[in-house]
Amino acid sequence: MTINDIKHPKVKAWVEEVAKLTTPDSVYVCDGSQKEYDTLMKKLVDAGIGMPLAKRPNSVLFRSDPTDVARVENRTYIASKTKEAAGPTNNWIDPEELKKTMKGLYAGCMKGRTMYVIPFSMGPVGSNIAKIGIEITDSEYVVCNMDIMTRVGTKVLDVLGTSGEFVPCLHSVGKPLAKGETDGGKWPCAPLDSKYISHFPEERTIWSYGSGYGGNALLGKKCFALRIASVIARDEGWLAEHMLILKLTNPKGEVKYVTGAFPSACGKTNLAMLIPTVPGWKVETIGDDIAWMKFGADGRLYAINPEAGFFGVAPGTNEQSNKNAMESIKSNTIFTNCALTKDGDIWWEQIGYDAPGELVDWNGNKWVQDKGNKEQKPAAHPNARFTAPAKQCPAVAKEWEDPKGVPISAILFGGRRPSTIPLVHQSKSWNHGVFLGSIVGSEITAAALDLKAGTIRRDPFAMLPFCGYNMGDYFAHWINVGKKSTEDKLPKIFYVNWFRKNEAGKFMWPGYGENSRVLAWVFDRCNGVDNAIETPIGYMPKDGTINTTGLDVSADDMKKILTVDVEGWKKEIADIRENHYPKFGAHLPKELAAELDGLEKRLNA
Ligand code: GTP
Ligand code: SPV
Ligand code: MN
Repeated sequence: MTINDIKHPKVKAWVEEVAKLTTPDSVYVCDGSQKEYDTLMKKLVDAGIGMPLAKRPNSVLFRSDPTDVARVENRTYIASKTKEAAGPTNNWIDPEELKKTMKGLYAGCMKGRTMYVIPFSMGPVGSNIAKIGIEITDSEYVVCNMDIMTRVGTKVLDVLGTSGEFVPCLHSVGKPLAKGETDGGKWPCAPLDSKYISHFPEERTIWSYGSGYGGNALLGKKCFALRIASVIARDEGWLAEHMLILKLTNPKGEVKYVTGAFPSACGKTNLAMLIPTVPGWKVETIGDDIAWMKFGADGRLYAINPEAGFFGVAPGTNEQSNKNAMESIKSNTIFTNCALTKDGDIWWEQIGYDAPGELVDWNGNKWVQDKGNKEQKPAAHPNARFTAPAKQCPAVAKEWEDPKGVPISAILFGGRRPSTIPLVHQSKSWNHGVFLGSIVGSEITAAALDLKAGTIRRDPFAMLPFCGYNMGDYFAHWINVGKKSTEDKLPKIFYVNWFRKNEAGKFMWPGYGENSRVLAWVFDRCNGVDNAIETPIGYMPKDGTINTTGLDVSADDMKKILTVDVEGWKKEIADIRENHYPKFGAHLPKELAAELDGLEKRLNA
């Protein structure tokens, strides 16, 4: 389609304005068809950027630039009118100044390329909870990924009509081409210090420049569905969260829906697709990364998954840890920064089998596995990802696209905490649950480029890099959401930790499918089963109420991960008091300060 197929005057004017600024060779409006996808993918393959995989039908491997392998948090900006509105945890630049800088970068930046206009819907097209965005990009890789991750095309323009609301999302890889120049088989992007992932929350607009990777470039995901949507949700009284959504069925056939907020690369995709080891239980997938939750007329929170695909962490994914993901990526999948085998398949660390002979690693170099060498650099980048359609997941729930959403019974918070935080505990109330969300911490992972993996940082609600406004006000919004309903109807809130380690640095809990044992306890808890004791930190499993039949964990370790570590929690409280809560100043809700005092009193009693 061409620019003249756009019937919405505001969209058309914006597209024309951007084309004038960025001076692409041509403008193309995406219809979302398979033919279009195939054509663009072929263009990428012909350019030597994509490599078709003989072993996986309709699947292609990409290797990105080494400076462009993950989100860049220190180049991500919330450019609200005031710094205070962005809050202490976001990078802020005055919006006028930032726009001036970025307009300078955008000027002529699409030279030698095609400018694509992607009309997309977050949520099922036309449903009243869905929201529409238009992404302009000069990357075919982005178009193909957006095709999988969102609902793209003509049908979205139809719903938009001539006056519908949309979020303008402007993206460029920031690599104009001179006359006759090509990418030469290299992933196009701009140097690190000219990358900008910018959000203008008051205008509900996104400007991204210089990166082609993941959340930096697929603007429907973190930029729209979390950073901008969190601002919309605050204004409209709902929640836009970094959460998986799963459907849990017990042996009696009763169903409950659970969401879970864990920081990046901390297990959302895995939990969402889990195959229970406890007999008779079933987990089905609704979403693996983002949940939008709104109140129904019955006072319950209903969640939808605004996405249509999975952009999942590849390393560690295997037949044992996540069979459903392995099934989902057999065809029609985009792989990024995985290693390539001689026979045209992908490979990554912990894929479940040794590297089959010589590989090409994610940098494009020859790589031979050397199991004796602990220092060997990985063949796949630790943040290598697959992009796969959600409908290819064998465990996808039949209601995964239901525009009504699914009623949520439990919310889990979690992160990688080698000590202190027990396997599971439940909050005493909604506000106590908000407190637990606000203190989530995790060891840093490879999902962000500019952070040192391994150290612990607070990542409240797993939203630290994704909240589009002042995090203190976000806490207050959660407190307010609790006032809109009653405790019996609100989801119960739990804090889980699959990542406790022993003195030798080994995980004490096997995780993955075994996490179903905790899900079963949570389910029963929501059903009013008498399976908990009250402790200073909240409700914890009564002895013997976590099913351990067939579980390979010693009784001693089990006790350790299910006991309140009083000294550890006292250190935790001191850290929150000294280093975490003071950041929010007057924006910290008094309810949370009171929860912290209450916890301290109970631990000292
Ligand atoms: P994002 O897509 O970045 O938001 O990540 P995510 O939260 O969906 O994390 P994901 O499920 O992709 O898991 C990330 C890494 O953690 C993978 O390497 C997994 O193998 C590993 N992992 C997931 N669940 C568990 C678990 O229960 N125990 C342990 N030890 N590792 C896990
Ligand atoms: C995350 O980092 O939480 C992701 C990957 O889900 S990205 O889409 O790149 O943000
Ligand atoms: Mn994520």
